[in-house]
Amino acid sequence: MSSHSTHESVRRVCSGCRLLAFLLAVSLLAACDSGRGTSTAPPVIRFSHVVANDTPKGKAAEFFKKRAEELTKGRVKVEVYPNSTLYKDKEELEALQLGAVQMLAPSLAKFGPLGVREFEVFDLPYLFDSYGELHKVTQGPVGRQLLAKLEPKGIKGLAYWDNGFKVFSSNQPIRTVEDFAGQRMRIQPSKVLEAQMRALGVLPQVMAFSEVYQALQAGVVDGTENPPSNLYTQNMHEVQKYVRVSNHGYLGYAVITNDKFWDALPAEVRGQLEQAMRESTDYANQIAKEENDAALEGVRKSGKSTVYVPTGEERLAFKKVLVPVHKTMESRIGKETIEKVYKETGFDPSKL
Ligand code: LMR
Repeated sequence: MSSHSTHESVRRVCSGCRLLAFLLAVSLLAACDSGRGTSTAPPVIRFSHVVANDTPKGKAAEFFKKRAEELTKGRVKVEVYPNSTLYKDKEELEALQLGAVQMLAPSLAKFGPLGVREFEVFDLPYLFDSYGELHKVTQGPVGRQLLAKLEPKGIKGLAYWDNGFKVFSSNQPIRTVEDFAGQRMRIQPSKVLEAQMRALGVLPQVMAFSEVYQALQAGVVDGTENPPSNLYTQNMHEVQKYVRVSNHGYLGYAVITNDKFWDALPAEVRGQLEQAMRESTDYANQIAKEENDAALEGVRKSGKSTVYVPTGEERLAFKKVLVPVHKTMESRIGKETIEKVYKETGFDPSKL
């Protein structure tokens, strides 16, 4: 064989090797890729919510992300979407049921439209006097029984996170019960909140949280109710003349997940996420009061709205008008649920 033909055969063999090597590399890459797409890819928890990061819920969601990723050593990735960036109130529950997001913490006033009316017990005016009373329900058997009611909807309730006690705000005076008559106020989608507003002579208007600031600014509604942390972080106080520190009701959250997603997680990972959730719940419930106190201070300092704290006598006048809502809402919430909560907290509607 001439040296030329030897070179030619080597070249042909080598070019065949290169082709083989190339095909091998492509198939290896494809195999790796499909591996990433299935077993080796960390599951992603998209945690969507409607409030600012700088609120009890926003901070607790970030805390959960950190602890979940630490405890699972990166086997789970958590993406937090605050401020309705992904979904608004009603959409987010639908998205959870469809599996487009994996975790939410809607306020307890937002479960009625899903058909779980018992959660509206938390909206009853003046039901809880303190976080201590509230925790007897949310951290005890009654709270667990309520979360179990979400299961037929494909939803698993993981925990309760606190926010706080609500203030009223408005561009019209809100000093006396009579002042409220005829005002238009935004509410969350709860029949109990609707009844509460009607008892005051207010025209309630259900509206997504993300739309409230503009509605107040444009005068679509006169006022609203929310804990100070939500009022302040959405700058609602800048478009409200009066804030009444009425503490007339509670607003807090149920942290929920899609049960199919949850059940499909490896048992070890689920256990680590449960641990992260326990720690986040402790954290959320620890910071809620101070966050709301600081927010109220922020509202005061801004000088944008007049902050008013009712006297004991004035509070009593509102209680007399609003506590009867407990009775009228009995058929909606269920007498048994209301009585269980009364038993835990010692609330007696006949003693004001
Ligand atoms: C509201 O709609 O006013 C609240 O539920 C917002 C929130 O999630 O705290």
